[in-house]
Amino acid sequence: MEKSVCRVSGDALSSLVNFGNMPLGNGFLLPKDFDREYFYKMAVGFSEKSKMFQLIDQPTPEKMFHEEYAFYSSTSIRMAEHFKEFANSIIASEYLQSKDPFVVELGCNDGIMLKNFADKKIKHLGVEPSKNVAKAANEKGVRTCSEFFSAELAHKIVEEDGKADAFLAANVMCHIPNIVDVVEGINILLNDKGIIAFEDPYLGDVIEKVSYDQIYDEHVFLFSAISINNLFSQFDFELIDVIHQPTHGGSMRYVLAKKGVFKIKESVIKLLEKENLQGLDKIETVLKFKENVEHSKGELVTLLKKLKAQHKRIAGYGATSKSTTILNYCDIGPDLIEYISDTTPIKQGKLTPGVHIPVVPYETFKENPPDYAILFAWNHAEEIMAKEKDFMAKGGKWITHVPNVRIL
Ligand code: TYD
Repeated sequence: MEKSVCRVSGDALSSLVNFGNMPLGNGFLLPKDFDREYFYKMAVGFSEKSKMFQLIDQPTPEKMFHEEYAFYSSTSIRMAEHFKEFANSIIASEYLQSKDPFVVELGCNDGIMLKNFADKKIKHLGVEPSKNVAKAANEKGVRTCSEFFSAELAHKIVEEDGKADAFLAANVMCHIPNIVDVVEGINILLNDKGIIAFEDPYLGDVIEKVSYDQIYDEHVFLFSAISINNLFSQFDFELIDVIHQPTHGGSMRYVLAKKGVFKIKESVIKLLEKENLQGLDKIETVLKFKENVEHSKGELVTLLKKLKAQHKRIAGYGATSKSTTILNYCDIGPDLIEYISDTTPIKQGKLTPGVHIPVVPYETFKENPPDYAILFAWNHAEEIMAKEKDFMAKGGKWITHVPNVRIL
């Protein structure tokens, strides 16, 4: 068994769930690049000390977040609405009471959340390592620097802008392998009453829904309230609020502050109790999850092969990063899935990472719909179902794998 160390506590990790050779979740590519396609061994471990659920190996950040990073947050209207709510909840909260607050967001992408602060003339700074999306943020009037966040950068920001009142992040913290350095940086950046508010896909949902496709190179961690409290307590922070979110198939927003500064809300107590019951602090829970993942794989492959034998046409809906995990782990290629439609121009005309299924524009799905569409963007199911009444009216059917493999 492969041994590695926990990125938070340094204790030994065993690889508990193995997914085999995996390309980058967002590594959509052209045939000319097939021979230099990057693969790594994807496996998950769990630390009995920090209770962190984490990848054993992860590609270097430079490989994942680069000039051609294919993910622009603002392509989804629902996500824009979601981040507006996140921003407004902070602006209106009891936590942001200073006259001239300063808000820093880590991984601000194309400015989808900070734009709400910029529009209200609230002092802000985005820190976004992917140059192309950082440029898009600056063009929208969101002040952004294209760098990786660190203790050193935190010192630089404090020197130039002063200490911050709030540190925000969405779908970013779980991407960061050297998370302890980042928390150290946050500790430098914030003033005494400063708060941290961030959200990420939630381990409790992943375990419950067997949504193993949340595991891919960018998600080095899947957090729980238990593991977040453990991590941040190293720097004297504590959870003061938690708010479950429907985004990304189930996320958690964590709000933290220095111990004793704000009252701990009931939501925190309740969630910690729930996690104890669910066993999110136990290795046995991860081992049970492994069994469920293997079962899910068997069911999906059997279903697709059965439909193919009946000469049904199957396509994918949404070339998500998540789908890369499913397709490669289950070894599902163009023999089973004809194409995957996606609205993101940068992905269209390319092939999916590893198994090389063509990614086509949404119009192809409209003009040439399959008999069955696998809902790879299942986290946007509501939005998609509302939009695709026509597909269903004409007899088109959906396949999903969460919480179990089935035809909808
Ligand atoms: P996302 O939810 O960010 O998932 P991941 O983090 O796993 O990549 O991506 C959703 C993808 O689905 C994105 O590429 C856009 C695409 N999409 C469509 O093609 N049509 C739609 O109606 C929606 C909502 C998304």
